[in-house]
Amino acid sequence: MIYLNGQYMPIEEAKIPVLDRGFIFGDGVYEVIPVYSRRAFRLDEHLKRLQHSLDGIRLANPHSDAEWAGILGEVIARNESDDQYLYLHITRGVAKRDHAFPYPPVAPTVFVMSNPLPTPAASLLSSGISAVTAQDNRWLRCDIKAISLLPNVLLRQMAIDAGCAETLLIRDNDFLTEGAASNIFVVKNGALLAPPKDNLMLPGITYDVMLEIATANNIPFEVRRISVAEVFDADELLLTSSTREVLAITRLDGKPVGTASPGPMFQRMHALYQEFKHNVMRAK
Ligand code: PDD
Repeated sequence: MIYLNGQYMPIEEAKIPVLDRGFIFGDGVYEVIPVYSRRAFRLDEHLKRLQHSLDGIRLANPHSDAEWAGILGEVIARNESDDQYLYLHITRGVAKRDHAFPYPPVAPTVFVMSNPLPTPAASLLSSGISAVTAQDNRWLRCDIKAISLLPNVLLRQMAIDAGCAETLLIRDNDFLTEGAASNIFVVKNGALLAPPKDNLMLPGITYDVMLEIATANNIPFEVRRISVAEVFDADELLLTSSTREVLAITRLDGKPVGTASPGPMFQRMHALYQEFKHNVMRAK
């Protein structure tokens, strides 16, 4: 069951006019929110990032936070799994094709769907994943969670074509930004290194959780630019996202990362993440 413009319906019944600016221009923004035990994880933070994305594309938020909580709660209740991930999507609405914003403004299109959220498979946790690197050829507003994801789609497919799971993005032949659909951490000498949240990467909600967990457990970390050389010289590489939680990257461009198996920082952060999730989300 999905939500579309004020109504709940089976996804097969959901229809969007072809002149929707999301379809024509990719003119919209989205959020992906994990749900554990039927509770949306970090809802306030996701809604704050949604507002940032909407401000970035100059589109008014169609709902208050309380209204969003109501809609998302209803979608969660109407779907089967206890653990889900919500996909929330807002476009600038339906209008005659013209690059400029419709004037007078039209109603935005608001869509929410839910899918079951599987915990990453045990084999992924024990072996880690392989990744490739590529030039980050995206625009300069990667902090906006825009639905126009063509660069990310092409970059992710490079990984798939190489038999890998993610593409690590390098800006200007110089420094790490993030993954095609994830944030990336480097581990060196027992410390976590994280790229700074600027216009060149999506401010990940899972990224923030990682740094909070590190702070709470006295795990040293530094937030700063990370050079390509540091990426290839890493003891460990970690990937985070709402749907994949935290995973170890054990091979990069066909070469082993560290010992080529998930290392001690991964083990620790993964365990702490699970504990955090359990305490925050599953406690009655
Ligand atoms: N993507 N960077 C990019 C480019 C992303 O697309 C994502 C997540 C992240 C991680 O952000 P978060 O921790 O808030 O999920 C970083 C989602 C999962 C997606 O597009 O499906």
